[in-house]
Amino acid sequence: MNAPFKAAGLREPFNAFVCDDDTLELIRAAANDMGWPIEKCNKGGLRNAVQSLSVSASPNILFVDMSESGDPINDINALAEVCEPGTVVIAAGQVNDVRLYRDLLSSGIQDYLLKPLSLDQVRESLTMAQAMLSAPKHSDMADDKPHHMMAVVGVRGGVGASLVSTSLAWAMSEQADRQTALLDLDIHFGTGALTLDLEPGRGLIDAIDNPSRIDGLFIERAMVRASDKLSLLSAEAPIHQPVMTDGSAFFQLEEELRNAFEMTIVDIPRHVLIPFPHLVSEVGTIVLVSDVTLASARDTIRILSWFKQNVPGARVILVANKFQNAIGELSRKEFESSIERQIDVVIPFDPKLVSQSAKLGKSYAEICKGTKASQVWNQLMRFILDGADSEAEEASAPAAKGKSGASLLGKLSGIGGIMAKKGAK
Ligand SMILES: Nc1ncnc2c1ncn2[C@@H]1O[C@H](COP(=O)(O)OP(=O)(O)OP(=O)(O)O)[C@@H](O)[C@H]1O
Ligand SMILES: [Mg+2]
Repeated sequence: MNAPFKAAGLREPFNAFVCDDDTLELIRAAANDMGWPIEKCNKGGLRNAVQSLSVSASPNILFVDMSESGDPINDINALAEVCEPGTVVIAAGQVNDVRLYRDLLSSGIQDYLLKPLSLDQVRESLTMAQAMLSAPKHSDMADDKPHHMMAVVGVRGGVGASLVSTSLAWAMSEQADRQTALLDLDIHFGTGALTLDLEPGRGLIDAIDNPSRIDGLFIERAMVRASDKLSLLSAEAPIHQPVMTDGSAFFQLEEELRNAFEMTIVDIPRHVLIPFPHLVSEVGTIVLVSDVTLASARDTIRILSWFKQNVPGARVILVANKFQNAIGELSRKEFESSIERQIDVVIPFDPKLVSQSAKLGKSYAEICKGTKASQVWNQLMRFILDGADSEAEEASAPAAKGKSGASLLGKLSGIGGIMAKKGAK
């Protein structure tokens, strides 16, 4: 129905406006069976419904008796003017005319019941209306974003890959409004849970011990919730226990996260990539984190070349973290010319806000909110989401080409230039 929303507040589950005592009695019995208050069943018919709804919030389900209506379609249109969107309307009347029935349905009525009514018939119609209300709305489904998986890898230890992972996890869930999973594959020393002030739980260890148990239900139970939109899977395995896995648990987890979330961020220590290169075979975006040092320049070159060989279709976004102008080991220019590509995003060395984030148990990006430092996260998110959207468009295009790096990268706006350079190598 068409009226604007009135006062916020909970809607009544059910209102009825009927014309005669028999129908009132029957509707009250049906409402009672459905567990709804019977006081909301009134006498007065369609006209009364219009009057009443013009001054009060609309219910979830509305039953209107049209027996006294001289011009049903006109009266239903008047009802639509005062009835808020989302209300399911069931009408009843004495006119047995298929054209009227069709016209009423096309005016937005859910069902038209011919009088005299039977209790079963009314109950069935109310149950259908209830089912309509609990079914996922089309607009909710249209809102579903296609899943995007990204990996965050540090070129060397301590460069800030986990800080980037937790920050992106927060930003993707809170600012980009994506249902996000963070999978921290640093089984012994991971800091994902610690950073977000959570207990890691046993989920990841259980998954490694019993990969065959990993399914949708397992994911639901094992993930630790940081918020409505962000869940985490991580571990603090005892350091005397080596991780015994052939990697199948990790692949299986990635698969299930793909089904359950809109965005998966996998924090992958680079040494885990060596035995399990397939961990990144399905990722759309790789965020490669480096600092601007000589050793990192060497390893950035090696890892970029490894990605080019192993995951040619993935976009690689190069992030330089802990950047300090003037006093750094290398200048940005020296670093870029040594690795023969440009840095995409620079995160300055920021001990003040980083230590504040540690003290408060929040991600660095969350602490940056409202400060100039937040621009970096907006920029990084834009890179990732632009790429994810182009990938989704490409996948849904009828003549979608294969997942070729060149064609996909060519479509990216903003980073096209940088990426083209990289592709040329
Ligand atoms: N931009 C920054 N400014 C200041 N300190 C930072 C910055 N980025 C990261 N750090 C600090 O550097 C340390 C290492 O960061 P982090 O744990 O994220 O790195 P990592 O690459 O995941 O390390 P590991 O190799 O152990 O997984 C942490 O203490 C973190 O708070
Ligand atoms: Mg780490």
